[in-house]
Amino acid sequence: MDNCKTRILTGITTSGTPHLGNYVGAIRPAIAASRADNAESFYFLADLHSLIKAQDPARTQRSTLEIAASWLACGLDPARVWFYRQSDIPEISELTWFLTCVAGKGILNRAHAYKAAVDKNRAEGEDEDAGVTAGLFMYPVLMGADILIFNADQVPVGRDQIQHIEMARDFGQRFNHIYGREYFTLPEALVDEEVATLSGLDGRKMSKSYNNTIPLFAPRDQLKKLVFSMLTDSRAPGEPKDTEGSPLFQLYKVFASAGETAAFARAYADGIGWGDAKQQVFEIVDREIAPLRERYEALMARPQDIEVILRDGAKRLRERYAMPFIAELREAVGLRDLSSVRMDADAGIEAPAEAVVPTFKQYRESDGKFYFKLMEGDRLLLTSIGFDSPRDAGRRVAAMKEGALEENADFLLADGVGSDEVNAALARFVAAQLAQE
Ligand code: TRP
Repeated sequence: MDNCKTRILTGITTSGTPHLGNYVGAIRPAIAASRADNAESFYFLADLHSLIKAQDPARTQRSTLEIAASWLACGLDPARVWFYRQSDIPEISELTWFLTCVAGKGILNRAHAYKAAVDKNRAEGEDEDAGVTAGLFMYPVLMGADILIFNADQVPVGRDQIQHIEMARDFGQRFNHIYGREYFTLPEALVDEEVATLSGLDGRKMSKSYNNTIPLFAPRDQLKKLVFSMLTDSRAPGEPKDTEGSPLFQLYKVFASAGETAAFARAYADGIGWGDAKQQVFEIVDREIAPLRERYEALMARPQDIEVILRDGAKRLRERYAMPFIAELREAVGLRDLSSVRMDADAGIEAPAEAVVPTFKQYRESDGKFYFKLMEGDRLLLTSIGFDSPRDAGRRVAAMKEGALEENADFLLADGVGSDEVNAALARFVAAQLAQE
């Protein structure tokens, strides 16, 4: 492991039981990627995150074990990659607090999961925050700490997680600006557009929430039963079948070679009966899963071995990265050894040197609308669209002052100005305000 390799970090939610859709869409590609030589890979069980939803301790423990055993059974090699449990790295929790203190609350208000909960409450006429824990609200900050503590360069995620990576960048950037150095690498989301999604038993996307899944490690006879219960049309043997839109065909394809898939397509065209088709699908899935299932069962029978693996991963990782890095960050924020305090005058609080603090200017145009712009000295960074009232414009300015630019299409960046640059300017604005308080 060395420092010039790209660091790739994958968080694994420790809830539920993995199903074939998870295997094909996430586990299998992630494990294939873990074998790359040019990367230093981090895989961890996000058990602190799981507490947001699951508050049954026995289930939390059981899920963590099952998910760890699943990834190991599928070939994750703890000698090659960092494999650890989030809760074994207390530096993650400590960093969460440092980031909490630079994160804009306004940004967290816009997180999809939190917003969805609020919208649902509103629609039901409830108090906005009814049943919403601060844990749900803070989810993105904890996730930011997961990523930033190891200065990950890339984070493979599904589309629904892109916003979280953007937030992690934002928190990292703010911290860097406030404390005046590039402590954190700003991570990038890696979205695989090609990734396979599977249909479930009823033909809808395979998902726990539809209750239509095939568990990854279902025993052989149960796997067979489930494959045989998959949705088909009512065509009789001898009648040609459509491969397009056939959940069975799709399942076959993700476990078969190109040649096998072509042969199976011919069998469809030749009118293979559904019973025979199902038997072939079952066999091709079981061919790949059977050895993994065997390993899984062996691992599940020895939970103490998994415990040892996880503890060992966390121990080495803390020594190598997390402990020295958190020591540096404590120093950065001023949680320092008091015996080394500086008593001279310029040790006082000041806005970070050299940085030009940007300013907002509000004005009215001849079209009667209200605008604002963001200036850095004489340089124009962005101009807003016209708002109907000074209050609307003011509100938008207030949101920006709290934090970062968001995707709202209600402003135009000036020529040659990038959004990262504006975010940096906004972070300086926040820093200057904090320094004045
Ligand atoms: N939020 C991720 C998910 O739901 C899990 C996760 C937690 C994660 N921390 C992470 C993913 C850090 C990537 C990086 O899938």
